[in-house]
Amino acid sequence: MATIHIEDVSKNFGTFHALKNIFLSAEDKEFTALLGPSGSGKTTLLRTVAGLEQASSGRISIGAMRVDNLAPKDRHLAMVFQNYAVFPHMTVADNISFGLKTKGALKEYIAEHTQRTAALLHIEDVLHKYPNKLSGGQRQRVSVARALAVQPQVLLMDEPLSNLDALLRLEMRSELKALLKKSETTTLYVTHDQIEAMSMADKIAVMNNGEIMQYGPPEEIYFKPKHEFVARFIGSPPMNLFTVQTLKTVNKKTFAVINNDIAFVIEASLKTKIQENFDACGVLVGIRPEQLSFKGSASHAKTFADASTIQSEVLTIEQLGSNTLLVLKSNEILFRVMEKYGIKIDLNDRVTFGYQPNQLSWFGKDSGMHIEA
Ligand SMILES: Nc1ncnc2c1ncn2[C@@H]1O[C@H](COP(=O)(O)OP(=O)(O)O)[C@@H](O)[C@H]1O
Ligand SMILES: [Mg+2]
Repeated sequence: MATIHIEDVSKNFGTFHALKNIFLSAEDKEFTALLGPSGSGKTTLLRTVAGLEQASSGRISIGAMRVDNLAPKDRHLAMVFQNYAVFPHMTVADNISFGLKTKGALKEYIAEHTQRTAALLHIEDVLHKYPNKLSGGQRQRVSVARALAVQPQVLLMDEPLSNLDALLRLEMRSELKALLKKSETTTLYVTHDQIEAMSMADKIAVMNNGEIMQYGPPEEIYFKPKHEFVARFIGSPPMNLFTVQTLKTVNKKTFAVINNDIAFVIEASLKTKIQENFDACGVLVGIRPEQLSFKGSASHAKTFADASTIQSEVLTIEQLGSNTLLVLKSNEILFRVMEKYGIKIDLNDRVTFGYQPNQLSWFGKDSGMHIEA
C-alpha cells in the first residue's frame, strides 16, 4: 500500500518559509495534483517528498514507513522532471532499463520488462534510437517509461508536459492519466495548469505562498472554493467577484448591494454570517461566468423586487466557437458571462442576467475565507 502522508511539513531556506505546515494524505493509487502559481512551493514540496530537500520540520510517510530521514533511493519512488531528463548517450532501451540494471534485475527480465514498458508508452519502435533522434513527445515518453520501469510505489512528476506543444500536451494528458491508472502508482503531479489538474487528478492541492489553500476533489475546488484565492485562481475565465457596498432588506429579503443595478439576494441561512462579516471586514460575493444566464434585454430600471437578476450593458462580445464570452459593464464594474453560441445580443445592449442564489460564493473581504452557514 503506497499511501503518502505529509504531516505538518515546513521547509525554510534561511529565513524564507517555502513550505508552511503542509498536510496532505494521498490514498493508495490516488492521483494528486499540486496546483498553484509559479513560486508557490510545488517543486519544493515534491523535492521534499523525494528526499532531495530535507524538511525543516514535520513527518513524511510512504505506506507505513516514515521516510523523511531516509535517502531518496530508499523511499521507493521515482521522479519525472520538467525538462525530461534522459541520458543522451544511451539508447531508449538503455534509458528505460537503467533503473532495473542498477537494481541488479535478471537480464531476461530486464529485456522483457523494457519491451512491455515501451509498448505501454508507444515507443517500442524507437528502442534502438538515441534521444536526439526523437521528437519532444517521444523523449517525454522515454522519461516516463524510465520512471515507471522500476515499478515505483510512488511516482512524483514535476510539470512533465509543460515543454510540449499544446496539441501534444492534450494528447499526453489523457494517455498519461490512463497509463497511471493501469500501472496503479500513487502519483503526486505538479502543474501550474488548472485544466491539467482538473482533468487528471483525483484530488487537487491548491498552493499559494507555501501553503495549501484547499485540498479536495476537482469539483469541490471548482464549485466550493474555500478561499478567495482559489476562487480567483481556478476557472477560465475566473469567477466574478464583487465588493458588497451595503446590505439592504426589502420585503423581508436581504440583498447585498453592489451598485444601483446589481444587488444579490442573500439566502436566509447565510444572512447572519454575512452580516457579521460585513460589519467586521467587508464581504465579497462571487459567481462563475457560466452561472449567469441571459434573461433578455432590460426594458425598465431594476427594482429590488426583481430578485435573482442583475442588469448591465454589453461591453464586448467574443465568439469562442461553441461558447460566447461577454464582458458586461455596470457603472464602473466589469464582469464576465459565458453563454452558449447563438445568443442574440448586440454591443451596448442593456441586458438582464439571472442567477441561482445558492450558486453564489461569499467571502470575507480581509480574510478571504469562504463564509459558511
Ligand atoms: N534552494 C532554494 N533556496 C532558496 N529559495 C528557494 C530554493 N528553492 C526554492 N526556493 C524558493 O521557494 C519558493 C518556491 O519555489 P518552488 O517550490 O520552486 O515553486 P514552484 O514550483 O511552485 O514554482 C520560491 O520563492 C523559490 O525562489
Ligand atoms: Mg516548480
